[in-house]
Amino acid sequence: MRLIILEDASVVADWAARFVLQRIKEFAPGPGRHFVLGLPTGGTPLGMYRRLIDFYREGKVSFKYVTTFNMDEYVGLPRDHPESYHYYMWHEFFKHVDISPEHAHVLDGTAEDLAAECQRFERLIEEAGGVHLFVGGIGPDGHIAFNEPGSSLVSRTRVKTLAYDTLEANKRFFDNDISKVPSKALTVGVGTVMDAKEVMILITGAHKALALSKAIEEGVNHMWTVSAFQQHAQALFVCDEDATLELRVKTVKYFKSLMGEHNKLIEDHS
Ligand code: GLP
Repeated sequence: MRLIILEDASVVADWAARFVLQRIKEFAPGPGRHFVLGLPTGGTPLGMYRRLIDFYREGKVSFKYVTTFNMDEYVGLPRDHPESYHYYMWHEFFKHVDISPEHAHVLDGTAEDLAAECQRFERLIEEAGGVHLFVGGIGPDGHIAFNEPGSSLVSRTRVKTLAYDTLEANKRFFDNDISKVPSKALTVGVGTVMDAKEVMILITGAHKALALSKAIEEGVNHMWTVSAFQQHAQALFVCDEDATLELRVKTVKYFKSLMGEHNKLIEDHS
């Protein structure tokens, strides 16, 4: 596991976008050879999307041969609802770059048969050859996607009932009214993300500090589902200083001493 500690959320956004950029460039996608990227929503990745849009506009990257899979979607929100993850992805990212809509997959939370929709999503990932890089965010309770505390660490895409903490954390998007937050969501499983070749988790803010320490300094535990990535061969946690507040000084010092190595990951060799 690599832990990349950066000054603040805007540096995290820039670093994460540069990492995605380098991975896509190194892969050299083309016709019949798509780079497969897993994507999150939420406040944390917004800055990364903005930087990726900049890189696209500057001609540094194209998404023409990139296929994306989003982590999750609320059940029951139509895709044109401003709080649906379809809407978020389209407005914050997809419409600004050259990705083909048929390659940008988001779970359909309005499907009549939700279980079949989840199976379809898993099949699509398989048909795409698996995910090269899954970018994720976490909730303050350490959930990845919508894999709430207690979720199976080998789970696949499915319907989940959201935890009270998640409803609380997300009510800010629904007029601060918890009763307006959908109580269920479709989400990739922890196992689905674990199958990706590489995973990059973005964590910013003091409110996520406990989750980060549970994720990396204690054992693998289904009550903090992001801790599962301790068993992933290629996992990166990219965080800001605030998110390190609950870590041991020794942990922080060690990973900071590796920054020279970590920054090689975002060097442009072209
Ligand atoms: C929701 C999403 C997660 C996301 C989390 C954090 O729970 N399902 O995928 O990581 O929010 O969101 P934010 O980045 O806004 O803190």
